[in-house]
Amino acid sequence: MNLLVTGGAGFIGSAYVRMVRRVRPDDVVVNVDALTYAGNLENLRDLEGDPRHVFVRGDIRDGAAMLELMRRHAIDAVVNFAAESHVDRSIEAPEPFLETNVAGTVRLLEAARAASVRRFVQISTDEVYGMLAAGAPGFTETSALAARNPYAASKAAADTFVVAFHHTHGMDAVIARCSNNYGPFQFPEKLIPLMILNALDGAPLPLYGDGLHMRDWIHVDDHCAAVDAIVLGGRAGEIYNIAADNERTNLDVVRAILRLTGRDDSLIRYVRDRPGHDRRYAMSTAKIRDSLGWRPRHAFDAGLAATVSWYRDNRPWSDRVRSGAYRDYYERQYADRLAAARPAGG
Ligand code: NAD
Ligand code: DAU
Repeated sequence: MNLLVTGGAGFIGSAYVRMVRRVRPDDVVVNVDALTYAGNLENLRDLEGDPRHVFVRGDIRDGAAMLELMRRHAIDAVVNFAAESHVDRSIEAPEPFLETNVAGTVRLLEAARAASVRRFVQISTDEVYGMLAAGAPGFTETSALAARNPYAASKAAADTFVVAFHHTHGMDAVIARCSNNYGPFQFPEKLIPLMILNALDGAPLPLYGDGLHMRDWIHVDDHCAAVDAIVLGGRAGEIYNIAADNERTNLDVVRAILRLTGRDDSLIRYVRDRPGHDRRYAMSTAKIRDSLGWRPRHAFDAGLAATVSWYRDNRPWSDRVRSGAYRDYYERQYADRLAAARPAGG
């Protein structure tokens, strides 16, 4: 199979690309990523020199470029991870979320249709269902869309377009809605890597509001395995929730990180709450378990401990992210190709 993975230099996309290369070595992965602040080619160091991993710096909003790529590589399936992914940024500046998450997805759908791509998998989120009341049972795939922050609104809008392309054009499109991911290579603006790095440094840990908001955590590799099960066996037009039943308050997560790093609660700082902060997300995952046989494999406590160890052992990665040095990597890796593409004297 020839796969087009978008956003494959980000946290989850890069884990998915690595996984596909490992489990299906004959498949070709064309990885298109705009390398925004969140894209980091150093996440894919393992794949340097791999002829079946083709990295292309490109923007999903550029429909013509996406169509050309799909045709050139005879793409069988598109897996769309590319997105602006951070809620706090969407509150400060929603436009890039509208542009990439909504317009980008629509252009990618149009390109996939024009190239007669067999399957389109949209990587969505539990946030499209909105906030869940304490004690209420988890959202199912038929729960109403009720997004409450600009990021979630953009993902819900994209999902609606994906459903519309399935019904209107008969496109084989499938949606995966996952809960909060954690694991190696996550950009340290998100809760878990931010808190791990601050704790390792003995710096304050900023908890929003009362710290009792709940998220349901899943190891990134379990999410990727679920996505692949959907790519291979999901039914056209269906939606699949993905989660691993690890609901925790943010305070519980932060305390666990403090224990794992040998620090104590004195580093916790309660700071101004996120505007419109959703108190709780949780979903039922009966559908993907029953129909595709997927199961999460990582227990949260062990996965969190391994993640803390990964950040402790990979300080050069996080130092380069924090200093901004990671952004030079693409230019250095691709210097020859870029020089060849430059007009003479340019
Ligand atoms: P990320 O921010 O780490 O990575 C996003 C990637 O997309 C980056 O490499 C970035 O360069 C790329 N990108 C952004 N705009 C682009 C554009 N216009 N064209 C091409 N590439 C572009 O995000 P992540 O946490 O890996 O999330 C990946 C996907 O999974 C997103 O769609 C997100 O909504 C979804 N998701 C994330 C989580 C989570 O907990 N992180 C949970 C559920 C769903
Ligand atoms: O639920 C899935 C979503 O999870 C994904 O779709 C998003 O792409 C991803 O960013 C994530 O969104 P959250 O807003 O839940 O993740 P974040 O890591 O930003 O925050 C997790 C919780 O921790 C949330 O309740 C806010 C809180 N928080 C976060 C940060 C960055 C803090 O208390 N302090 C912080 O400094």
